[in-house]
Amino acid sequence: MNELAGSQYLIEFIYLIASALFILSLKWMSSPATARHGIWAGEIGMVLAIAGTLLHHGIVDWKWIVIALVLGSGIGIPLGMVQMTAVPQRTALSHAFGALCVTLVGTAEFYLRTPNVPKFMMSVLAMEVILGSLTFTGSLMAAGKLQEVLPQRPITYKGQNLVNLGLLGVAVVAAVYLVLHPEAKQFFPIMVAIPLVFGVFMVIPIGGADMPTVISLLNGYAGLSAAAMGFVLQNKLLIIAGALDGSSGLILSVIMSKAMNRSFTNVLFGAFGQVQAAVAGAQEARPVHSATAEEAAAILAAANKVVIVPGYGMAVAQAQHKVRELYDILTKKGVEVRFAIHPVAGRMPGHMNVLLAEADIPYDRLIEMEEINGDFPQTDVALVIGANDVTNPAARTDASSPIYGMPILDVDKAHTVMVIKRSMSPGFAGIDNPLYYLDNTLMLFGDAKQFVGAIVRELSGGH
Ligand code: TAP
Repeated sequence: MNELAGSQYLIEFIYLIASALFILSLKWMSSPATARHGIWAGEIGMVLAIAGTLLHHGIVDWKWIVIALVLGSGIGIPLGMVQMTAVPQRTALSHAFGALCVTLVGTAEFYLRTPNVPKFMMSVLAMEVILGSLTFTGSLMAAGKLQEVLPQRPITYKGQNLVNLGLLGVAVVAAVYLVLHPEAKQFFPIMVAIPLVFGVFMVIPIGGADMPTVISLLNGYAGLSAAAMGFVLQNKLLIIAGALDGSSGLILSVIMSKAMNRSFTNVLFGAFGQVQAAVAGAQEARPVHSATAEEAAAILAAANKVVIVPGYGMAVAQAQHKVRELYDILTKKGVEVRFAIHPVAGRMPGHMNVLLAEADIPYDRLIEMEEINGDFPQTDVALVIGANDVTNPAARTDASSPIYGMPILDVDKAHTVMVIKRSMSPGFAGIDNPLYYLDNTLMLFGDAKQFVGAIVRELSGGH
């Protein structure tokens, strides 16, 4: 008995340290200077959490646990080794698997406990299972859209909001009935199946450009369902970790929705009512001005103030190290070079910051959108490298544009705009960019890494 109490104390102590590490991890990750410590704290916290759980006296047989650990690690390690541009869909898959696990645990707990499930316990169990199931299928849909195995375009039909709300309503009614009559087992499968369908329906009307917000929202849902599971299993660490995950996911969704200029209610209800009609293709061939690397180098060398705008194309081309060389050479020539960071540039929050930090570009040169936008009229050259949607002035000027209202980097206000991209193809949102047809815009057609390299060669005297 004493030994049992002792091991319980040890587990609780380990959980306490793990919880503190999770909190520190989030705190440290909010600043680039301490972010690496944050990752370590999170990882050590998670190892402690797993170790503490394995010490649990309720474990009677290790066989299945070991099989699951080996199988999970065998699948998880290669799954983690994706290109950085594929991290959002990887993250969506993690949410899906986490949510599936939560749903399965909730289902097992229900059938183990029924009919003796107290009302509070049944309420949190219902929340766990409903959030878990809708997050599972919703995250799979989001991963599919981001990986482009599913159409990125919103799929909409008349009365969609009503159907979705109706579905969620049926699941909630089943949950309330089960809280009042936990012996009515036949309602449990309904409470699981309907949110599974709802998760699919929730994500299909949401267009590609809104995926960042959806991913962080699903992150929040996954965290909340894990916190609910913590109440069901009476595991304090799960409650704390789930609450941290849930709240940080929801806070990130608010930040992302602000960046996309969406109201939070709109986000919370899976962009209900915000049916987008992204129009791709069918663009008339309008004339653009293009330039060579030699011309671009001459313009940059004559400038006093240059703002570089990186985007997804810089990440795909892995051009960040060449961009660093360009930064060095221009700075040496006395040109003031800064980087404009849009909150949703690339394919994940902080994507550009991570890439530029990897290339050792000084952090104080990276300026957030709100801060730098006022400086574009005094900027000699805005050099856009593989960014498209985040510079599209239609978001400011064209009320019929699907991205109308999304805050953008006002590069069109610079004296000269130079855009490095390979073609006239649209970006993630699938829409044309009027920036390219302006008189002060020069298109530099080519791969970002090669073109920046060519400019660097020209600036360093052609060697
Ligand atoms: P995008 O609008 O996606 O545009 C990227 C551009 O890069 C494309 O137009 C493409 O044009 C060009 N490109 C691709 N490969 C290239 C290469 N090797 N060399 C040079 N250029 C290349 O990117 P953005 O401006 O960064 O905007 C981000 C978009 O992604 C937004 O719509 C945002 O909502 C969405 N999104 C963001 C996130 C987060 S959280 N950041 C997550 C998911 C989705 P070419 O094909 O002509 O080269």
